[in-house]
Amino acid sequence: MRIAIIGYGRMGKTIEKLAVDKGHEIALKIDLDNQSDLTGENLKGIDVAIEFTTPATAFDNVCRCIHAGVPVISGTTGWQDKFVEAKTLCYEESGAMLVSSNFSIGVNLFFALNQKLAEMMKPYEDYKLQLTETHHTKKLDAPSGTAITLAEGIMSQDDRKTKWVNEATDIENTIPIISVREPDVPGTHVINYKSEIDSIEIKHEAYSRIGFASGAVLAAEWIIEKVGVYEMKDVLGL
Ligand SMILES: NC(=O)c1ccc[n+]([C@@H]2O[C@H](COP(=O)([O-])OP(=O)(O)OC[C@H]3O[C@@H](n4cnc5c(N)ncnc54)[C@H](O)[C@@H]3O)[C@@H](O)[C@H]2O)c1
Repeated sequence: MRIAIIGYGRMGKTIEKLAVDKGHEIALKIDLDNQSDLTGENLKGIDVAIEFTTPATAFDNVCRCIHAGVPVISGTTGWQDKFVEAKTLCYEESGAMLVSSNFSIGVNLFFALNQKLAEMMKPYEDYKLQLTETHHTKKLDAPSGTAITLAEGIMSQDDRKTKWVNEATDIENTIPIISVREPDVPGTHVINYKSEIDSIEIKHEAYSRIGFASGAVLAAEWIIEKVGVYEMKDVLGL
């Protein structure tokens, strides 16, 4: 597989190593200093692009790949306001795109577990819900894309929860997401339901970036020859 890596930072470098170990070729690398090389011409012969950049640049990068007819995997978080526009473009141009706030297999199992727990907790109004995400201090967006996906998963199961906020709150219909920033934390998410008599908690803790990178490479292998807009759960058959 000939891969274009867009964003040669922490994730881009980890993805390069894993992809090369699996026998793939990194045929194009784009970062800040050569952004203008992301052209239709340079994307010719590329089988798939993997994009991990910044909230401000992801949408434009994804659109360029779709225009060039190259399937694109994007893991950049914090650009959900532009996602519908990208999705529409992808359908219009019969392209292929997979955007996920988290590519780790464990987190995608955790997403499913979170929804199941939300469904089970729905009748028990005494429990107060809190979501906490902890990440490294260089993370640009808050709350994390994964925390937003978790909050959306809860809202999909419990219609009393209609929104989330990035702070503590006791408002009944609102999910509080607490963001904590500490050095060198790849990503930890905790969902806690607390009553006066006990608490129930589920937690996912990533030990490194390898889980995200290997999931992104798996998604890249999976999307080749496909048309449409996909999620990680499609790749994993969840
Ligand atoms: N979905 C997931 O599983 C997952 C996992 C980890 C990180 N992330 C997200 O991925 C993104 C990148 O994370 P990171 O830790 O690699 O960050 P990073 O800061 O280490 O790397 C980002 C890279 O993108 C480059 N860049 C900026 N603008 C660009 C542009 N227009 N074109 C090409 N390159 C550009 C930067 O120079 C940098 O090298 C963040 O949004 C982060 O939240 C997602």
